[in-house]
Amino acid sequence: MPDPVQVESMFARIAGVYDLLNRTLSLGIDQRWRKRMLAASGEVRGRDVLDVCCGTGDVALLYSRHGARVVGVDFTAPMLERAVKKAGRAGLDTRFARGDAMQLPAATASCDVATIAFGIRNVADRMGALRELLRVARPGGRVIVLEFSMPPGAIMGRLYRFYFTRLLPFIGRMVSKDKEAYEYLPRTVLAWPAPEQFANEMRTAGLEQVEWTLLTRGIACLHVGRVPAGAHKGA
Ligand SMILES: C[S@@+](CC[C@H](N)C(=O)[O-])C[C@H]1O[C@@H](n2cnc3c(N)ncnc32)[C@H](O)[C@@H]1O
Repeated sequence: MPDPVQVESMFARIAGVYDLLNRTLSLGIDQRWRKRMLAASGEVRGRDVLDVCCGTGDVALLYSRHGARVVGVDFTAPMLERAVKKAGRAGLDTRFARGDAMQLPAATASCDVATIAFGIRNVADRMGALRELLRVARPGGRVIVLEFSMPPGAIMGRLYRFYFTRLLPFIGRMVSKDKEAYEYLPRTVLAWPAPEQFANEMRTAGLEQVEWTLLTRGIACLHVGRVPAGAHKGA
């Protein structure tokens, strides 16, 4: 189970190279996946979006550009500092707050869409984080999770393992000079549950109409769940 103190210190160490490594290691595909997340959100103009584990703000800024009112939350200060600077440079009024995915600094039913991209894998209590995402979203709203995934099929599986256990740690180590960070990434990705299993976890957390889409031959997966109409009654 990821240790929050270690996770925070690791992201603080790599914050300066995070964007560069993301683009390089994914050959820019990561931005396409974030756009798929946006497309799965319905109309976001004028809507409230809470982006959890926002990191350097790529998801939050994308939703802001499309007219949403966005708050990004993350517990690593150096990642948030970069997000704030990026929003300033882009002239966007995206807001950011320091906070934990397991105890979000947001009121119950305060957003229409709650998003988390490449974040929930790092959270110690996954079910707790899913329940928090559901809590902050309004009835009828969406909870959207974007994560790496193990592609189906023997050949893709083998290529993926090679990439994640050999190539990525090597490049990550060279650029970030942080051995631990880019060994941690494959460990958590390979331990991530299959799409069906994660969909069941979302249902157990209380979400309904849970669906998922494999992206780029299953290298990543987008899960979408709806907040039930009767959610938060008596909260
Ligand atoms: C791989 S980055 C993803 C950043 C961003 N969502 C993106 O798409 O690039 C994971 C982020 O999750 C944050 N994080 C991990 N566990 C967290 C937690 N329990 N609460 C808040 N943030 C957390 C880290 O600080 C880091 O910025």
